Amino acid sequence: MKDIFFCPEESNFYSNCLETFVFRNCQNSESIVEFGSGDGSPIINSLLKNKFDAVVHGFELNTSAWKVANSTIDEYNLADKYIISNACLFNSSKPEAEYLVANPPYIPAPDSDIYMPLLFGGIDGATITNKLLSLDYKNVFVLLSSFSNPLSTLKKAQENNYFVQNFMVLPLKFGYYSSEPKVKNYIERLRKNKMAFYSGDYYFLAGVLFRKFSESAINLSNELAQVMMSL
Ligand SMILES: C[S@@+](CC[C@H](N)C(=O)[O-])C[C@H]1O[C@@H](n2cnc3c(N)ncnc32)[C@H](O)[C@@H]1O
Repeated sequence: MKDIFFCPEESNFYSNCLETFVFRNCQNSESIVEFGSGDGSPIINSLLKNKFDAVVHGFELNTSAWKVANSTIDEYNLADKYIISNACLFNSSKPEAEYLVANPPYIPAPDSDIYMPLLFGGIDGATITNKLLSLDYKNVFVLLSSFSNPLSTLKKAQENNYFVQNFMVLPLKFGYYSSEPKVKNYIERLRKNKMAFYSGDYYFLAGVLFRKFSESAINLSNELAQVMMSL
């Protein structure tokens, strides 16, 4: 189990945001693609609490996590609602879906030699998140960390015609993965270049719903940028 992502506070926040921003708005078995399902608990918990029509297609590279997720899915008879491939979304043919959702790998570091290499988010932590905003899904829901160059993600979203439809913010204490000395020291360096924002032991994690621009869009991008830089 040691090699499976474990941070209940973060996973629960992801699960609550998904219910509020994604599942509640899903109509008539709209499908959802998930990048990085982990042990599957956030989606499974949401599916158990609510009766949603949506079908979720997850992608998880870590085989141990994928196995745990599948056995829980079987245990709760959710096999027709949550299907996970042991593969990388970027290297697979992309399923059609209304929503792409993820609590993506966002740990910034000089290289991927960290406690859990699959949590490496590129040198500024935003690489995978920004890539998810380049796959052309109509709605993208992601968790965004204030120490992972959040302004680059807002810029990438704008370049790719997304506006911020809604967001929710959680102050979070640096955890096991972000407190690794190699990572923490590196985040301190990013802060000097305005690529990381935090205060003491706390950073902000935002659940953000991006949507492709429409005429009536009210864009909360500036409001979110102000919150992320306020630490
Ligand atoms: C921050 S964890 C989130 C796990 C779970 N969604 C949660 O919130 O508890 C990110 C997950 O993405 C997975 N991952 C990393 N790179 C991936 C890739 N290229 N394709 C699929 N999954 C990937 C990791 O193994 C990890 O389980």
